[in-house]
Amino acid sequence: MNDIAQTRQRDPQTIRRMFGRIAPRYDLLNHVLSFGADRRWRRRACKLATVRPGGLVLDVCAGTGDFALECIRQHAEVAHICLTDFSEPMLSIGRAKANGIPAGKISQGCADALRLPYRDEAFDLVLCGFGVRNLENVSGGLREFRRVTRPGGELIMVEFCAHPMPWYAWPGQLWIRHVLPTVGRLLSGHASAYVYLPTSRDAFFSPEGLKRQLEAAGYRDVRYELLTFGVATLFVATR
Ligand SMILES: C[S@@+](CC[C@H](N)C(=O)[O-])C[C@H]1O[C@@H](n2cnc3c(N)ncnc32)[C@H](O)[C@@H]1O
Repeated sequence: MNDIAQTRQRDPQTIRRMFGRIAPRYDLLNHVLSFGADRRWRRRACKLATVRPGGLVLDVCAGTGDFALECIRQHAEVAHICLTDFSEPMLSIGRAKANGIPAGKISQGCADALRLPYRDEAFDLVLCGFGVRNLENVSGGLREFRRVTRPGGELIMVEFCAHPMPWYAWPGQLWIRHVLPTVGRLLSGHASAYVYLPTSRDAFFSPEGLKRQLEAAGYRDVRYELLTFGVATLFVATR
């Protein structure tokens, strides 16, 4: 896909509207379309996170909050977690799911990931689950995530990268390219959102390419692991 097509595909207003429309069905579709693997991926990602006692965490492109909630479940040492996203309907589903978590421990803010309303070095840990691929300016987003992370803090990111799956994972390829868009359309009632997922994955960086982007943004010790034959990729990077 050429640069113009990529940029058009990542037009922020189009993306924001798309997530606003699919918000009520987003969680269901995640779990159905990945056969529950999305939960395992976030669990694995949170397992690799280092949080110091009293740690402040930001979940950027937080959507309905599953990454943040998993982080709270695994890390009692988290003092506060902020969820930020530019889609109010996605955040509002997240608010309902956070019922029962003490108000002082979790907060939400509607904001663009490219212009985060937080001071420099405010967070010990930044999470980003399946968000960065949607940004109009990926390197600008990574620099912004780094800006709000304290020196020595971490970024933990899970993303769908362009990665050729091994031949024996052909049922997975078939599912992603052909079945997922149809099932997604039927369950979400939205014609293009689940076509966007495989096409934006194909047009995105490879895991090595995204690692280089992270390094160019100033992160060090960048490492990644492939999840479920490379369907998703998990990145850990230090500020
Ligand atoms: C695929 S969802 C991921 C949600 C959640 N992190 C998860 O793990 O399920 C991507 C989210 O990124 C948000 N998003 C995309 N572009 C954004 C931007 N420029 N600023 C803020 N949020 C953005 C969308 O609104 C959507 O909620």
